[in-house]
Amino acid sequence: MLVVLQRDKEEVSRLAAEIIAGAIRRKPALRLGLATGGTMVGVYRELVRRHREDKLDFSLVVTFNLDEYLGIPATHPQSFHHFMHEHLFSQVNVLQTNIHIPDGTLSGNYDAYCEKYEEAIRDAGGIDLQLLGIGRNGHIGFNEPMSSLGSRTRMKELSAETIEDNRRAFAPGERMPECAITVGIGTILETRRILLLATGASKADAIAKSIEGPVAASVTASALQLHRDVTFIVDQQAGAKLTQKSYYEHVLKMTKALMPERLS
Ligand code: PGA
Repeated sequence: MLVVLQRDKEEVSRLAAEIIAGAIRRKPALRLGLATGGTMVGVYRELVRRHREDKLDFSLVVTFNLDEYLGIPATHPQSFHHFMHEHLFSQVNVLQTNIHIPDGTLSGNYDAYCEKYEEAIRDAGGIDLQLLGIGRNGHIGFNEPMSSLGSRTRMKELSAETIEDNRRAFAPGERMPECAITVGIGTILETRRILLLATGASKADAIAKSIEGPVAASVTASALQLHRDVTFIVDQQAGAKLTQKSYYEHVLKMTKALMPERLS
């Protein structure tokens, strides 16, 4: 695992966008796994800037989003469909037909739908680069604590903590979705390369447990310790509870000198 400690949110966004842009330039038909959430806004802003100013080309890129709330339409301002359209898809030249986001309007037959989502990922050749945020409770996607570490795409009940964290984005009094469709931990572990981003003090516990704690279903991001190519990019606040910082800095220095491609 590579742990990159950045000064602030801007530096985290810039490095993540640089790595994604590099991956698209090396492989224009990149299979890109995408995430939503406040942490991703700056990354997508930077990718849009690179599209406009540096001609970063998304025309062959195929995207798969991690998750979507169940029970709200794509047009809902808090849906992940809406988030992706607003922050990225409407501003770059990705083809509509190359975009995949779980359908939040399903009302039954979840397993059959989720198996099809897995099949679409497989048919596309698997995900080359997966972008991840992390919840305060250590979730990745909507794989809440105690999700099976072998889980696949499925319907998932949201935890009280996640509902509380996400409620503030919904209108006062509005009914907040209590379930989601999310890819599984097993699905995420099959991706070829992972970038997990975290900023802010509220993520410090989750980051320390994910990187330095035991692999456990109670912190689903800890399963990334089993992945062969994962890079955590965290700001000072999110990395505040890590105990091995000087070692991570040493590894980073050596990686930049000996294997710079791992950061591009
Ligand atoms: P955030 O969400 O970027 O809005 O903090 C991250 C997550 O819950 O995965």
